[in-house]
Amino acid sequence: MPVYKAVILIAGPQKGTRFRPLSLDVPKPLFPVAGIPILQHHVEACASVPDIVEILVLGFYPAHEMAAFIQEMASQHSSVSIRYLQEYAPLGTAGGIYHFRDQIRVGNPDAFFVLNGDVCADFPLKDMLEFHRSKAEAVSTLMATEATHQQSVNFGCIVEDKTSHSILHYVEKPETYVSTLINCGVYIFSLQIFTMLQTVFTRKQTEYYNSVTGMDADTSKRDAIWLEKDVMVPLAGTNSAFVYQTSNWWSQIKSAGSAIYANRHYLNLYTRDVSNSRLVSNKEGGPKIIGDVTIHPSASVHPSATLGPNVSIGKNVRVGAGTRIRESIVLGNSVIGDHSLIIYSVIGWSSKVGDWSRVEGTPEDPNPNKPFAKMENGPLFNSSGQLNPSITILGGHVVVPSEVIILNSIVLPHKELGGSYKNQIIL
Ligand code: GDD
Repeated sequence: MPVYKAVILIAGPQKGTRFRPLSLDVPKPLFPVAGIPILQHHVEACASVPDIVEILVLGFYPAHEMAAFIQEMASQHSSVSIRYLQEYAPLGTAGGIYHFRDQIRVGNPDAFFVLNGDVCADFPLKDMLEFHRSKAEAVSTLMATEATHQQSVNFGCIVEDKTSHSILHYVEKPETYVSTLINCGVYIFSLQIFTMLQTVFTRKQTEYYNSVTGMDADTSKRDAIWLEKDVMVPLAGTNSAFVYQTSNWWSQIKSAGSAIYANRHYLNLYTRDVSNSRLVSNKEGGPKIIGDVTIHPSASVHPSATLGPNVSIGKNVRVGAGTRIRESIVLGNSVIGDHSLIIYSVIGWSSKVGDWSRVEGTPEDPNPNKPFAKMENGPLFNSSGQLNPSITILGGHVVVPSEVIILNSIVLPHKELGGSYKNQIIL
């Protein structure tokens, strides 16, 4: 029986800054989307591939920050080994794979998946694996999707042989247009990859120590290895790297705004499994539910409240009478008062919204009129220094009084607001 493994790349604390303030309280991969941590969606996708025996999460977050999550995943998926391996420094997208090569190779897997931890998708891993198996000469299979001409340059761009699907040319974030076929950050590699990584590692070390300008304090030049530049670029044109193209839902989760978009899509994926207890339905004596909604069993929602579509309510949350919530994530221990309205917003952990208040943001969804459009991870401010319209985010432990309006604003943790705000970052 073939044996496979999976590696999930999650980087570390200095990365994911565009996800602030949501990543101030919890490592970004553990931020809950559709009721579970972003990373759990990856783990579940990998664990559903029958031949995957081990999932290795690689990053440079301190191990103790990941421990409870890994333990929880291990207890939920007893037939798969799940471990976190901490890099001693940011080693890039392939440096950790090389550093922990013995851990990946042990058990002699036929191949292993690599998933970027900051993408979300309806991951077609089983089909992708079947495709990879059908290519006897494949050292690598890369998942790709179509993007718009304009947005493609923000991703890895691929030119393929349309018949064999072998990668002819790969350019990481090109300066000018190359192709609308983009890298989804999901790969399968055979163990031959380690010979390549060994060569790249030795070259980088030699260049660093032989540098005429002397040894740079920035050791990332010596230690970091990149799947994109150091592996995919040289593999292109060798007839050993292939493209598996998908039209399934796929997106990056870079900005906080993308959490609301991902929330909607992941909730929708739950509808495929009718027995899935993560979605709630209308029940006698319960709140009115519209569309896809998840409510943690410990939360209490007043029967006269209306939730949905696309709402996730966290642990121990309380929602008052007559309150309306849609397209939003309400994180654990928050309290929403009576007759309030929450739309396109993230309410941080242990925050409080009073009665008769309105917390509203603007969706940052991909342009629906452009086929293949992806989320824009645009800047926070426009050229005249104003905050671009965004979802509204309340950081953890924020207090919003009664009878105010908070519109398109980002509130940093531990703020007690005194009135209404519009288009502001409240520090
Ligand atoms: N373990 C580890 N160590 N993970 C890392 C490191 C590191 O030093 N640096 C980045 N990562 C992880 C990130 O958490 C993310 O999941 C993934 O590697 C890629 O992150 P970036 O290096 O920021 O690249 P990107 O997201 O701008 O672009 C990559 O992903 C796109 C798809 O989302 C590229 O692979 C593109 O070609 C691709 O289109």
